[in-house]
Amino acid sequence: MKTLNIAALAGDGIGPEVMREAVKVLRVTEKKFGFTLNITEAPVGWAGIDAAGKALPDATLALCKKSDAILFGSVGLPDRDPTIPKEERPERAALLRIRKEFGLFANLRPVKLPKALAHSCPLAKERQGDGIDILVVRELTGGMYFGQPKKTEDLGGGNFRAIDTMVYTTPEIERIAHVAFKAAQLRRKKLTSIDKANVLENGILWREVVTRVGKNYPDVTLDHMFVDNAAMQLVLKPAQFDVMLCENMFGDILSDEAAALGGSLGMLPSASLGLPRKSEGSTESRPTETVFGFYEPAGGTAPDIAGKNLANPIAQILSGALMLRYSFGLNDEAAAIENAVAKAIEEGNRTGDIFNPNETGARKTGTREMGDAIAAAV
Ligand code: IPM
Ligand code: MG
Repeated sequence: MKTLNIAALAGDGIGPEVMREAVKVLRVTEKKFGFTLNITEAPVGWAGIDAAGKALPDATLALCKKSDAILFGSVGLPDRDPTIPKEERPERAALLRIRKEFGLFANLRPVKLPKALAHSCPLAKERQGDGIDILVVRELTGGMYFGQPKKTEDLGGGNFRAIDTMVYTTPEIERIAHVAFKAAQLRRKKLTSIDKANVLENGILWREVVTRVGKNYPDVTLDHMFVDNAAMQLVLKPAQFDVMLCENMFGDILSDEAAALGGSLGMLPSASLGLPRKSEGSTESRPTETVFGFYEPAGGTAPDIAGKNLANPIAQILSGALMLRYSFGLNDEAAAIENAVAKAIEEGNRTGDIFNPNETGARKTGTREMGDAIAAAV
């Protein structure tokens, strides 16, 4: 089997310590199943600025370009932001830049509340229904994050005008809609498309295009929901959702909300995918199609708990599982990691974010110990 080349960019805050656990779990999985991972680490974010003067150093970008997938930690340290211009800060100069540079338009965020963690869900038990199992499909390279103009104008007299622009084209909506419908076909076949069609031009176009794309997927039930109502429905009746399709910013907001329902933001992995590409250097006579992917926890750098062995490594570890599944087609291997996470939770291992002192059989574990428990369970 060919070697899988992975760029591991741990970044800032809790990034390095959760990345260490993800690599640990990947190495155990590699040994058990017999595939070969070539993992190369490189600095990004403030770590990139400190090492090479840029949030996305040229060498790091070059490494990403020759890799099959990027396993990413997290970037950004708000305390240091004022020391450099906003365009050079890690979120924009590294994370958004990589998303755009590699055309990673499809962001998949699977939220699942494990039975054993029902107590970590902020909702009353009766609101949890038959369980929370939602896939947020977030458009990642359009909308307000990237639309032009994007600037702050000086109006004089101490007044400014800040402008962000929400832009979507038909093809951009079509391609993410196809991803969402295909994902729904593999799940409970229900798609809720989120928009603000009562106010925004973008919302009207979004709804039209998603409806049209939906004609190709008659087996999937499509509903439309305004984003404000969706935010409310998530806390009232989350079990009604299967796949939620969102534009970039709505997806950013609703995926954090959904993550909290799933127990903790520290449990939410994500996969950011582009269009399939032909893999180079494939030894088979027929080139195989692979998806270049970027895999990262949905949470941030959590500077307040960084370096203290307190962070939950599960989102990072599950991001590694998504990488094996989506970029390398290693489905059994990915499932082995996901099952190991479930087992470690069943055994009572709890980092602080999912710990409840009243839960019998649960014990507080550190980042490293949680990683060890998951590695042992693989
Ligand atoms: C996320 C994060 C990023 C985003 C930030 C760090 C720029 O919140 O991946 O959800 O807004 O996309
Ligand atoms: Mg976010």
